[in-house]
Amino acid sequence: MKRSMFAAVSAVALTSATSLVAEPQAEVLHWWTSGGEAKSVAVLQEEFAANGGTWTDMPVAGGGGDAAMTALRARVLSGNAPAAVQLKGPAIQEWYEEGVLADISAVAEAEGWAKVLPASIAGHMMCEDTWCAAPVNVHRVDWIWANADVLESNGIAMPTTWDEFNAAADKLQAAGITPLAHGGQAWQDATVFEAVALGVLGPDGFRKAFVELDEATLTSDGMVAVFDQMRKMRGYVDDNFSGRDWNLATAMVMNGEAAFQIMGDWAKGEFLAAGKAPGKDFLCASVPGEGFLYNVDSFAMFEVDGDDKAEGQLLLAKLIVGQNFQKVFNLNKGSIPARVDVALDDFDSCAHLSADDMAASNEGGSLLPSYAHGMALRGAQSGAITDVVTAHFNSDMSSADAVKMLAEAVANSM
Ligand code: BGC
Repeated sequence: MKRSMFAAVSAVALTSATSLVAEPQAEVLHWWTSGGEAKSVAVLQEEFAANGGTWTDMPVAGGGGDAAMTALRARVLSGNAPAAVQLKGPAIQEWYEEGVLADISAVAEAEGWAKVLPASIAGHMMCEDTWCAAPVNVHRVDWIWANADVLESNGIAMPTTWDEFNAAADKLQAAGITPLAHGGQAWQDATVFEAVALGVLGPDGFRKAFVELDEATLTSDGMVAVFDQMRKMRGYVDDNFSGRDWNLATAMVMNGEAAFQIMGDWAKGEFLAAGKAPGKDFLCASVPGEGFLYNVDSFAMFEVDGDDKAEGQLLLAKLIVGQNFQKVFNLNKGSIPARVDVALDDFDSCAHLSADDMAASNEGGSLLPSYAHGMALRGAQSGAITDVVTAHFNSDMSSADAVKMLAEAVANSM
């Protein structure tokens, strides 16, 4: 269906629910397959069904979504795009430029999205002057999760500086506990790296390096210090870290095999799905340093043929930004709502910390897009950085060499 037709169907549906001429259906590509993620996406499936929709699930396992993006490209190239796709940040713009996204402005305008979404989030959902994606949440990336009992029985407080983190990790290691639960997959290496980078470089340094790709910052002494800390992190993971899924690393923290995990708050979704309570079983804190790295999950609608599918896209977009969904989904997912008008009364202390820090960072100019989760850079640039991060983490490369390689990789990716 072409954009104009989609808009026409949308307009009809918006004027009167009873005038629906088609039965909404949607094939939905996403990578929410862990325990907490599956529970969360089920909320959307149920709401879609309750509103007359037929959902065709296309889950592509693999944290961070790399495998999902490969599957998406194959589907689009074969001329058979899924109707709705979990897509984020600049990747939305990249697909828009390929001319394959549907315009969902009709529903965005009818539902008043501009009034209920912060401008920074709305900006990611707009392609030129049309709406091209619907935001689900705000995930924070720069978190440390910890097993409360393990810290207590080892006399360790949640670290507030990297020196404290290293001292705690050394102590835990001496006691036979894996300090850092980690899965050696490129996107997880990148997740730890950007959290360390935010802490070590500070918000301005992070922005210069990973938003502006400023060469002087990429090759600075600060960046050498970031890689030095990454070398320490490598020493704090267990021998079997290679290839481990992120949720299995979270499980290591849950069962006390490891003390800490540095991961976005989808990890909280895992703790909650396993019946663990924040402040009691597990602890959350932002990584040492200032700032807030945001990662907004969203769905873009791809141009597809058929009124049923167009209706499905319309319904899905409307539900996703709906107040009820934003609350229930995010209670499960570990994130906070993208909408500003959802009460947080039922949310836990970690979510409140996230919301408070997000507001303060927004005021203070330290609210920053996550590079590791595709919010800051286009794929070529973020991929180039991650290649270096992973190469360094999995070898004995010096920090000085890593920094040199980083600047070269970024320059070559332009
Ligand atoms: C997504 C989260 C997801 C996580 C792990 C992130 O990039 O934004 O929604 O839970 O990857 O798969």
